[in-house]
Amino acid sequence: MEKDMTSKKKHIQSGKDEVPTMKGIRGQVLTFKADPFFHDEKDCYDFYPDGLVAVRDGKILDVGHFEETIRKHPGLTVTDTYEDCVIMPGFVDCHLHYVQSPMIGSYGDTLLNWLNTYTFPTEAKFKDKSFADMTAKMFFRQILSQGTTTANVFATTFAESVDAFFEESERYGTRMISGKVLQDRNLPDQLRDRSAEESVMASESLMTKWHGRGRQMYAVVPRFAPTSTDAQLRLAGELYRSHLDEGVYMHTHLDEAENEIEWVASLFPEAMSYTDVYRRFGLLGPRSVMAHCCLMEEAEWQMLHDHGCGVAHCPSSNLFLGDGQFKFWEAKDPARPCRTGIGTD
Ligand code: GUN
Ligand code: ZN
Repeated sequence: MEKDMTSKKKHIQSGKDEVPTMKGIRGQVLTFKADPFFHDEKDCYDFYPDGLVAVRDGKILDVGHFEETIRKHPGLTVTDTYEDCVIMPGFVDCHLHYVQSPMIGSYGDTLLNWLNTYTFPTEAKFKDKSFADMTAKMFFRQILSQGTTTANVFATTFAESVDAFFEESERYGTRMISGKVLQDRNLPDQLRDRSAEESVMASESLMTKWHGRGRQMYAVVPRFAPTSTDAQLRLAGELYRSHLDEGVYMHTHLDEAENEIEWVASLFPEAMSYTDVYRRFGLLGPRSVMAHCCLMEEAEWQMLHDHGCGVAHCPSSNLFLGDGQFKFWEAKDPARPCRTGIGTD
């Protein structure tokens, strides 16, 4: 194959005046197609050393060996080559907080101290729409430069933080999931929702505005059980369930640190476990995504499995804060596997 190391991208053929609707991307192509926990590793991916991704009107039509695939699509006239690169599907980040971009790398204290010292003061700045806009711009540039094209993302209390995020995502045409963070107790006044009812109504109006608009999708987002009153969790559960059929998500944190779990037990003495708190308020279901799940009891895994929930494992965050570590073998126990993805947090 001809090599041109000075430019990674090169048009090798182009139609004269017509606007092409078909496009090909040539290079080493790697795609994944099965879960290596349950299938032989060699059945989990396809690798084409000289591959082609055929695209029609922005949608992938075919993927395969270059020679074979180009012959199948005579209308394919324009090809970009990335011969010294690996072409892969965009990465999906199952859990992160764009509003924490300004404090990345701050000292890795224990979770609850870290929230109070660094996280809450940073998130309070997102009431200012221009600060939120500026951070959203920086965030998208950063994740796209790293290959992430879809993500499940925490904003914060303020509608401004949600609008800034989705506006920037819409500009790029990326598929993103986000929503207003519901948090009405145990956090600083500047960040605290004043009323459970109003906070969930605000979340619903943002859902109406953004869910299904282009590629944007909405999530009902109680931060974690300790920062919501019973009333807020109940209303959040009602909102999530009443929009389940429209593909709305639920996104929260679960079982990340020992003292967090003890705190939840003291705030919700009637619940059997931390996971059971979410169950009692109707927050478990398909497209419920639980971040962390480091310190889970067997009954909690079973509950997540029974409700079809997803789990977001965030390895670098867990190593950094050091409160708990995720046990992949527990999450993927073949007797009651839980759908598990990776997040950066
Ligand atoms: N639990 C509740 N809020 C947070 C957060 O912002 N980050 C992490 N890692 N855990 C949380
Ligand atoms: Zn998080």
